[in-house]
Amino acid sequence: MNKPDVLVVGGGVVGCAVALEAAGRGATVVLLERERLAAGASYGAGGMLAPQVEADRPGPLLELGLRARAMFPGWCAALEGAAGLDMGGILRVVATEAGADALRERARWQRAMGLVARLCDPAECAELAPGGASAVLGLWVPDGRVDAHGFTLAVAQAALRAGAQIRLGVPVSRVLDGAVEAAGTRWEAGAVVVAAGAWSGLLCGVPVAPVKGQRLMLRHTGAPLPLTLWSDRCYLVPKAGGRVLVGATEEPEAGFDRRATVAGVAALAAAAAATLPALAAAELEEAWAGFRPAAPDRLPLLGRLPGHERTWLATGHHRNGILLAPLTGLLLAEAILEGAALPAACDPGRLQA
Ligand code: GLY
Repeated sequence: MNKPDVLVVGGGVVGCAVALEAAGRGATVVLLERERLAAGASYGAGGMLAPQVEADRPGPLLELGLRARAMFPGWCAALEGAAGLDMGGILRVVATEAGADALRERARWQRAMGLVARLCDPAECAELAPGGASAVLGLWVPDGRVDAHGFTLAVAQAALRAGAQIRLGVPVSRVLDGAVEAAGTRWEAGAVVVAAGAWSGLLCGVPVAPVKGQRLMLRHTGAPLPLTLWSDRCYLVPKAGGRVLVGATEEPEAGFDRRATVAGVAALAAAAAATLPALAAAELEEAWAGFRPAAPDRLPLLGRLPGHERTWLATGHHRNGILLAPLTGLLLAEAILEGAALPAACDPGRLQA
């Protein structure tokens, strides 16, 4: 393909979603990925579709998240592959009275917005999450989950079926206006979309920095955890085959240190066993570390790279990359190909000095 309409930089979930939505609209699309698909956060993410649990207040993040969450049933139905969608809710539990007050307040403002947010007494918590440590109060919300890795690969497959080309092992070293340089070659395009996750800042000079997260995968042979359980200390996300993902540390000072550390593993293991005591006997299958791409205000950057006409950003999704990917793909494709407006709160220009 000589000069595609859209050239995407990054083979994570966001890049694949942009490729899918653009190709689905008839655009010619090339995606460049320096390693392999889902090599970064899209491999290890918890896969929670959790706008109601993640947002501490009403605002643009919650609005985007709710819109994105509603897209998943349709998206996953159209994908081939094991996306692992489950919309069975998330139970957030607290072990202190102060935590209970905060949970009641969260339920209050979410209900005032018309959202479902059900407070659960200790008996209801035990029913929803059998074997969970005793809770003072719980809050059930209709959030969900996917298998992050499986979902990303399924989106990439759908993009290929829609006509996108995916080139692996092509490291982009420079981003220009409507072009990139990669491995000594210049690639021109009608539009370039940088979806390089935590590396977007290095590539484009925008304030997107890595926030390291470690997580564990446990092989649990006890009674399966029926829904995602979020405590004061960690979240536990059920995965296929009785596995449980335990997340996650937040280490903004660690930079691009990709090591899973003894301190990180020990803290997560202790938190998991404190939240669901049977997990003390689980097998540690994998300890993993990756990087959330974070802007200073923790909102995504969706729009033109400042000073550029034909280079766009789709990055900065911080803790919500999997959740926000379908919406990001849709919004970027509509903006680039149809001139639609993007959410003002996500304008990259807001971060310029
Ligand atoms: N979305 C959960 C996390 O980033 O840890």
